[in-house]
Amino acid sequence: MGSASQDTYTLPPATSPSLGLAHPTDAEKRRTWALNHTHWGGALTLEQYLKREAYFTTIPLTRDGGMTHWILTDSAWSPAAATDSSTRPVLASCESIRKRVLVAYSNPDPGADSTTAAAATVHERVGHGIGSVFTYPEFRGNRYAARMLSDLGPWLRKWQAQDGRDAACSALWSDIGKQYYAKKGWAAFPSLHAEFLVPVPVSVSVDGKESGREEQEEEEESERGKGEGEGEITPISYDNLEPLCQRDEQLLKERLLRTARATRRTSAAFAPDHDTLRWHLYRDDYISSVLFKTAAPFARGAIAGPEGRRVWAVWARSYGGIGAPADNVHKNKLYILRLVIEPEASEEMKEVPSNDIQEAFTAVMQAAQRESSRWHLGKVDLWNPSTIVKKLIDQSGLQHRWVERDEDSIPSMMWYGDEDVRNVEWVANEKYCWC
Ligand SMILES: CC(C)(COP(=O)(O)OP(=O)(O)OC[C@H]1O[C@@H](n2cnc3c(N)ncnc32)[C@H](O)[C@@H]1OP(=O)(O)O)[C@@H](O)C(=O)NCCC(=O)NCCS
Repeated sequence: MGSASQDTYTLPPATSPSLGLAHPTDAEKRRTWALNHTHWGGALTLEQYLKREAYFTTIPLTRDGGMTHWILTDSAWSPAAATDSSTRPVLASCESIRKRVLVAYSNPDPGADSTTAAAATVHERVGHGIGSVFTYPEFRGNRYAARMLSDLGPWLRKWQAQDGRDAACSALWSDIGKQYYAKKGWAAFPSLHAEFLVPVPVSVSVDGKESGREEQEEEEESERGKGEGEGEITPISYDNLEPLCQRDEQLLKERLLRTARATRRTSAAFAPDHDTLRWHLYRDDYISSVLFKTAAPFARGAIAGPEGRRVWAVWARSYGGIGAPADNVHKNKLYILRLVIEPEASEEMKEVPSNDIQEAFTAVMQAAQRESSRWHLGKVDLWNPSTIVKKLIDQSGLQHRWVERDEDSIPSMMWYGDEDVRNVEWVANEKYCWC
């Protein structure tokens, strides 16, 4: 059974003052994971899923207390009241992940000394991603998830605060539509993505052999032969990722200041930093190492164009179905975690993007499609592209369609500042933010 014996324990109303947040024991975590494996296990067996959840506490971003597990439980429950005398009730559960958030104010930050400096500065705050909101099947419909969230929202404002400052926000990605979390204070933000179809796979088989590999190598060779700015691609790997993240963050800070000035709204972004990106890549590695018994190289992204005029994307694989990846190509995707246009500031002033940027963008997306095709991924998804990136997509000639998600992965934010959340610009609301 999932929790305290119901023989002697009557489920309390969700409003009961004896209910509160707590951190689960290791045994409670395992019991929760065993139950939610059917929702989030994907292609992993239960045993592989249990290992993965434990592994997440050891990787960048979520190690060293970066991830916190939460449960809603009942302090009125006592072991003596339960016939099995072992387990307290786990009425709902979730996790939070500490993240860095960058904030630019349109008006001076009320907390700062110099108003001018404050307006021209990007402030660093703590933010929290919330994931895996779950209620054990036998407890559903009692508003326990609602109660947990109504306690957790305000609690996260002070949780892991730095320098005595409140967190900027918490965010989650709803898989149950736009209403449920919005009613609890996490407003739904845009959930548009461009979906690119991937040509028929040049597949990597589970044992590492690649069919059609020779043809692909010839194609890649011819790509490499092209001159600078004409589609030459540098793959992204763990080795060259960090400086790209640093450059990205610098550019994003400038964009936040521009956005705050132009919109006269507070503008915020999750930092696309090395830890955040690596969290996605480690997660991808874990799942792929289970699905493929191969160490075949996988590019983590691609860069095109000369320094100063580069376009790059960092990406990760997602395998949706149960069973062999080759049998679920239509459910498998490559997610563009983050797309960067290095000269974005000058390009966004133009009606039509410059030719070299258009070529670099198209080359990067073609590289994403090639990599997808090798790894049984039927689509490439790019979340919430900026205005300039929308133009680049439309003029790329690449087959794509626009999808507005209504049900799943709806970015939703609770803002802890004075502004109404609807007046906050969430800049770079891309897949790298997700957890
Ligand atoms: C979603 C979930 C956490 C709700 O837990 P709960 O304790 O029963 O939630 P509450 O009693 O607070 O709220 C029930 C509400 O959730 C709604 N809900 C539950 N599942 C839903 C779904 N798949 N789509 C839309 N709404 C859903 C119910 O319709 C009900 O709506 P109401 O408030 O208008 O009556 C629970 O159903 C669950 O664990 N589901 C599986 C995992 C999951 O999908 N988690 C959400 C990830 S974003």
